Amino acid sequence: MPAGRIKLSEYLSQQLAEHPSLHRDLGKLVLDLAKAVQEIALLISQGALAGVLGSLESQNVQGETQKKLDVLSDEILIQTLRSGSLVAGIASEENDEPITNPKGGSFLCLFDPLDGSSNIDVNVSVGTIFAIYEANQQRSPELPDYLQTGRKQIAAGYAIYGPATMLVFSLGNGTTGFTFEAASGEFILTHPKIQIPADTSEFAINTSNERFWEEPVSRYINECKKGKTDVRGRDFNMRWIASMVADVHRILMRGGIFMYPKDNKDPSKPGRLRLMYEANPMSFVVEQAGGLGSTGRQRILDIKPESIHQRIPVILGSKNEVERVEQYHREHDRA
Ligand code: AHG
Ligand code: MN
Ligand code: MN
Repeated sequence: MPAGRIKLSEYLSQQLAEHPSLHRDLGKLVLDLAKAVQEIALLISQGALAGVLGSLESQNVQGETQKKLDVLSDEILIQTLRSGSLVAGIASEENDEPITNPKGGSFLCLFDPLDGSSNIDVNVSVGTIFAIYEANQQRSPELPDYLQTGRKQIAAGYAIYGPATMLVFSLGNGTTGFTFEAASGEFILTHPKIQIPADTSEFAINTSNERFWEEPVSRYINECKKGKTDVRGRDFNMRWIASMVADVHRILMRGGIFMYPKDNKDPSKPGRLRLMYEANPMSFVVEQAGGLGSTGRQRILDIKPESIHQRIPVILGSKNEVERVEQYHREHDRA
């Protein structure tokens, strides 16, 4: 490891040297993603000046109105990845079907180009989430090739466009954070070996959905809210940014539990968040930092995906808290 400041490119070379099992082109792909992230960060930082705020007429495959920045970020990522020959196939939250790169490549890249889009117009942190899998080398990618369990991710991470732009990712050997330095145009290593404390006194959930929750989730949150004088024996605090990236980033920095659980608001949707673009990559990063990702009933990284835009319940963060919520689900289901 070079002494002093470590640039993203230096860190990646060092990781490849230390871990011969890593795919030799993985570093180049992370650098390409970092390039796209820089472009997206620049647009976001210009806000209204760049005319990028607001919505479009269009809806994505999930029936959600697209923001201009959802589409622009998606285009930047697709263009970056398609200009090279590292990624054979691309799947995005914003596109109905995966996109094949005619030049081929060793990887599949799945992403949520702009996470937390309801926050764009109010100048609150948003992000980009990505998951990388190995592609089938024998033929160009077909839909089933994308439907791999989260365990098979060879890398995953996110960019957060906050007061500082950061890139946080894991190559399967821990979770590491880099901060973008505008003056040099470089991502600099600032958060080596991120560790999520196993216990926490902070939860993140949209409590406006409380009446739709299942009993184990209500039980857990009610116990947190009752605090010191109840079974938990300590007071809890609550945060909800409504950008998964920002909420999970806070948890990586200081612990906590993030929940977008199953609810009965719309029985056709088993959850709000998407398995392939949000739950899997964020669970990977969280587990690589010593945390846990669960639906309440199953480890997220073990789920066999059924469809590319599948939604699932998400409960992730500090290990002991996630395990407690799982235990409440077991007790409930047994009764
Ligand atoms: P996206 O902007 O990619 O659609 O994702 C938004 C997600 C997630 O970032 C956040 O945790 C959640 O939606 C917020 O949902 P509510 O508005 O229901 O709180
Ligand atoms: Mn999202
Ligand atoms: Mn999105």
